[in-house]
Amino acid sequence: MITIDGKTKICGLLGYPVEHTLSPVIHEVLARHTGENFAYIPCQTEPSHLAEAVKGAYAMSFVGCNVTVPHKSEIIPFLSSIDPLAAKVGAVNVLVPEEGGFRGYNTDLTGLGRAMRYDGVSIPKEKTLILGAGGASRAAAFLLAENGVTNGYILNRTLESATKLCDNINTTYGRTVFKPLLLSEYDKLPGDGYLAVQATSVGLFPHNEEAPIMEEAFYEKCSVGYDLIYRPFETRFMRFFREQGKPSFNGLRMLIFQGIEAYEKWTGKPVPDDVVPEVIEALEKHA
Ligand code: ATR
Repeated sequence: MITIDGKTKICGLLGYPVEHTLSPVIHEVLARHTGENFAYIPCQTEPSHLAEAVKGAYAMSFVGCNVTVPHKSEIIPFLSSIDPLAAKVGAVNVLVPEEGGFRGYNTDLTGLGRAMRYDGVSIPKEKTLILGAGGASRAAAFLLAENGVTNGYILNRTLESATKLCDNINTTYGRTVFKPLLLSEYDKLPGDGYLAVQATSVGLFPHNEEAPIMEEAFYEKCSVGYDLIYRPFETRFMRFFREQGKPSFNGLRMLIFQGIEAYEKWTGKPVPDDVVPEVIEALEKHA
């Protein structure tokens, strides 16, 4: 248990709603592990109060904030500066105080990269695809672009949003990072051996038996699956891989590492990877 006293460092979560967040569980373990006097407080922030909330958190000397839905892009004008990578993505999930205000970062993106390294998943320069073209896909797509992906694919139910995301990334990086495809057009993917990142909301609890593509032929084209969903622990998407004897991973380590990277920025303390099993145990107890 955290003991609050006059020296407790306070960090807030700005979101609407915030009721279901797991971040307090993660940060309690990190604080205990690193011996910090640190408290993580969810602060329900209505969109119309966002500017005041940012000012208030800074005025009250918060050591940092997390930002979640629906504020990740809307908060940008209220920051004193923004990390170049977060600016490219156009979304911020971490605020760190600096002279005159908060600087914004995106640890959803860097956290996914660290989670993949932790899981031993390497990003192939070619033969990479993403399912989905929403907010989660955007962070994944920029991470893959940063890692040199070329001629990858973004598959989505709606072609228009996949095309928009591809155009945005290809323009930013000045090369063909991704090409758009409909989910139903997966048979147009050349060859096989793809790393498939699942970033749609399909398969999320309680729809455990659903996957964005329900045909085995798609999974035959893939060699490894990375689902950004962590509830359930094994999604239908992941099960397709298991049934073909191929590795797949859920989004739990992405969630944890976005928290670890944020915590490191707020406290200046490096967090060793050996804390991860402890965080997973705490999250399982909480579930
Ligand atoms: P998030 O922030 O979690 O990424 P989002 O921005 O609403 O959420 O994006 C949801 C993604 O899941 C989108 O790619 C969406 O596809 P569309 O662009 O066609 O809406 C995808 N998605 C949601 N429900 C789906 C379904 N039943 N079948 C296929 N894709 C679906």
